[in-house]
Amino acid sequence: KPVIFSGMQPSSDSLHLGNYIGALSQWTQMQEDFDAFFCVVNLHAITVPQDPKELAARTRATAAQYIAAGIDPTKSTLFVQSHVPAHAELAWVLNTMTGFGEASRMTQFKDKSQRAGTDSASVGLFTYPILMAADILLYQTNVVPVGEDQRQHVELTRDLAARFNSRFGDTFVVPEAQIQKGTAKIYDLQDPTSKMSKSAETEAGLIKVLDPANVTKKKIMRAVTDDDASIRFDREAKPGVSNLLTIYSVLTERSIESLESEFEGRGYGDLKKDLAEVVEETFAPVRARTEELLADSAELDRILAGAAERANEIAGRTLANAYEALGLLHG
Ligand code: TYM
Repeated sequence: KPVIFSGMQPSSDSLHLGNYIGALSQWTQMQEDFDAFFCVVNLHAITVPQDPKELAARTRATAAQYIAAGIDPTKSTLFVQSHVPAHAELAWVLNTMTGFGEASRMTQFKDKSQRAGTDSASVGLFTYPILMAADILLYQTNVVPVGEDQRQHVELTRDLAARFNSRFGDTFVVPEAQIQKGTAKIYDLQDPTSKMSKSAETEAGLIKVLDPANVTKKKIMRAVTDDDASIRFDREAKPGVSNLLTIYSVLTERSIESLESEFEGRGYGDLKKDLAEVVEETFAPVRARTEELLADSAELDRILAGAAERANEIAGRTLANAYEALGLLHG
């Protein structure tokens, strides 16, 4: 089976709708046909300050949400990045092969470091995409299902794999990103030209998987729309309404056209009220299952430990090959 690898940072108490649509819902479908690795990337999370207790809790909560949303740990390898030392080791090797200018061109670093202020942005934030390349390459990954914001990082990963292979001999599979057309970027409900993100200034436009129904409903009812009062998809002229239609369409697996005709002549209030119900129907079972899983964290830890064993075996083999190719003595 071809290999897929993807991951999320445990940097919030809950995943958000963008993570769910852009990544997680794709993953659950793909796990049937691929040898799938899904990672909670806690080493990435510490590139910005984290509270240690919260980080540990959020790491488990993120893993629980993967399972609750449909990742089956008997089919997929669901593991935590810090359980597999090869990630940090290969990242070091790849650091030595990445140009300073090349890393400086990563737009996400530019955005994030600007927000942090250049002085408080860490070197880890700068080399973050190189650790991500190590994640992907250790498993000889063929396909990386992600949202649009990760496209450039996967491109860098491809460049690094090809560079290593041409200098030191074939060692890594060169992976491809899989970015779903149309749904790879879900927008903030209050600012529908910016992507939905946990680092937005306010949470008013951020829909969280684990929020109670009334909180989510309120946010959806207050979503920014426009004065045109017609429900149709037009990303340029009607970004807010288009975003709501996209979300509705993905969660119900209905086409945008069929939604446009269903809501013809009706108001934005109707669309929002129905959408709030659709979101609740999707998230209520995920929330309930997440709570169950977190109530028995020994069981969850057992699942993660089992997966870590398999991940270590595969990643360790790839790392040994890379060390061998480089002339690094190893055990
Ligand atoms: P992270 O944790 O920021 O986001 C996890 C996944 O959610 C997608 N995503 C979105 N998709 C659509 N609309 C949005 N508004 C939206 N916001 C987030 C992201 O594209 C991502 O797929 N660097 C990665 C984590 C990572 C990784 C990896 C991913 C580390 N190593 C290896 C793939 C392979 C990140 O920070 O994702």
